[in-house]
Amino acid sequence: MVIERENSNIATFELEKQQQYMQKMKAYLSEWEQKTGRKQSYFVLTTGCQMNAHDSEKLAGMLENMGYIASPTEENADFVIYNTCCIRENAEEKVYGRLGRLKYYKNKNKDMKIALCGCMTQQDIVIEKLQKSYKFVDIVFGTFNLYKLPELLYHSMKTDGTLFDIWKEAGEIVEDIPTVYKSTFQASVNVTYGCENYCSYCIVPYVRGKERSRKPEDIIYEIEQLVKSGTKEVMLLGQNVNSYGKNLETPLSFAKLLQRIHQIEGLERIRFMTSHPKDLSDELIETIKNYKKVCNYIHLPIQSGSSEVLKRMNRRYTKEQYLALVEKLKNAIPDITISTDIIVGFPGETEQNFQETLDVIRQVKYCTSFTFIYSKRTGTPAAKMEHQIPEEVVKDRFNRLLQVLNPLVEEVHKKQVGTVADVLVEEVSKQNHKILTGRTENNILVHFEGNKNLIGKILPIKIIDSKTFYVIGERV
Ligand code: SAH
Ligand code: SF4
Ligand code: F3S
Repeated sequence: MVIERENSNIATFELEKQQQYMQKMKAYLSEWEQKTGRKQSYFVLTTGCQMNAHDSEKLAGMLENMGYIASPTEENADFVIYNTCCIRENAEEKVYGRLGRLKYYKNKNKDMKIALCGCMTQQDIVIEKLQKSYKFVDIVFGTFNLYKLPELLYHSMKTDGTLFDIWKEAGEIVEDIPTVYKSTFQASVNVTYGCENYCSYCIVPYVRGKERSRKPEDIIYEIEQLVKSGTKEVMLLGQNVNSYGKNLETPLSFAKLLQRIHQIEGLERIRFMTSHPKDLSDELIETIKNYKKVCNYIHLPIQSGSSEVLKRMNRRYTKEQYLALVEKLKNAIPDITISTDIIVGFPGETEQNFQETLDVIRQVKYCTSFTFIYSKRTGTPAAKMEHQIPEEVVKDRFNRLLQVLNPLVEEVHKKQVGTVADVLVEEVSKQNHKILTGRTENNILVHFEGNKNLIGKILPIKIIDSKTFYVIGERV
């Protein structure tokens, strides 16, 4: 299949400009290498979601294109970049903490360059704090101009002081940024950028901008290239993949995009996240059901089980609508597994509201749940809501939530025992080098004995035992 890809003049101009800066940096670094006898190294620290992790693959791609080599440690790197998250307060605290340590390293190595980018730097209060107390940072840029790293780095080599370049909104999508994919057999691929759902607790729309969809031909081209170099599984990323394509020149539904991706020969598994329940279509359910490569697994964040709380969260579905959707999914695809995100302690959450969340958990039986304590984010509507919940009450609810959740998660894993499932082998277990870990199509984590040369293969594994969060298998 030959696909015509057409980039806008602006995006082409931006890409070519950065390619020129990469060349200039390459010349600069090679001169430096001749003088010192070694190459400059980089270290990227990523906090936050898979979207950020994938952005970091682009940062690494641009840096390696310039001639930098990866440094195994932060302390000895010539260029350190933090790609940050601000979804909850503790994500930001972690970055400030690490920056303190980085300052100490930089005192020992004056030539070290430091950059900060990602979601955190899109907030005015963060910029003020950096200007006041973190003057040792050399470059600060945001989420909308990630691709400008070569240009910023080049200018910072020639100037003193911190270089700030923060945009208030997104420009055109710039395609074809060099990327170093972490894995040779699994890859993340953006389908949308940004979010405009404005859930009342969430900072993402303010730091990632309006929702933009990539053109289907760009997505397919990228996946085809990946498959040629060995990728078996893709994870399609978007804050709400279900609204993909609505604003394209020629609109295309997410389900139709999946169907097109399904045609790519050599690709074996298609995953996606996140699905906002309000936009999950029957067409998507049918596509998961009928297209083999689309995994029978869905991440479907509930956030709260109380319709009243959901209304104040601006989630635009009720408890009943959510449960009806789960029913529909389970009826259409009996072996589907479902995971979720839950926030405990949203402003005004009563014990009764919390009990409704427990009720949903008992009914749905999630395979995994990411549970969070509500964190107040300046600038969001929820931050100004009355009745913020005292810490002890939230912690108590959080613990009770896990007490209900974990045995149910364990049950889902127990149900797998006796089955044989195809497992994509991902890595050697960190605890035991004889054990490999991988995932079934249902996203169930499997541990089994095997040699590391099996990594990247899809193998049938018999599930013989289960733990709370994973199952144990053996090769058949
Ligand atoms: N776009 C995805 C979520 C991205 S953020 C979606 O809509 O599901 C990942 C998760 O972080 C959210 O699902 C939510 O559970 C949690 N989260 C977001 N803002 C939060 C906040 N202020 N406090 C606590 N958890 C939050
Ligand atoms: Fe945040 Fe809601 Fe957008 Fe998800 S859908 S990123 S929770 S605003
Ligand atoms: Fe992701 Fe955190 Fe930004 S969750 S979108 S990196 S605020």
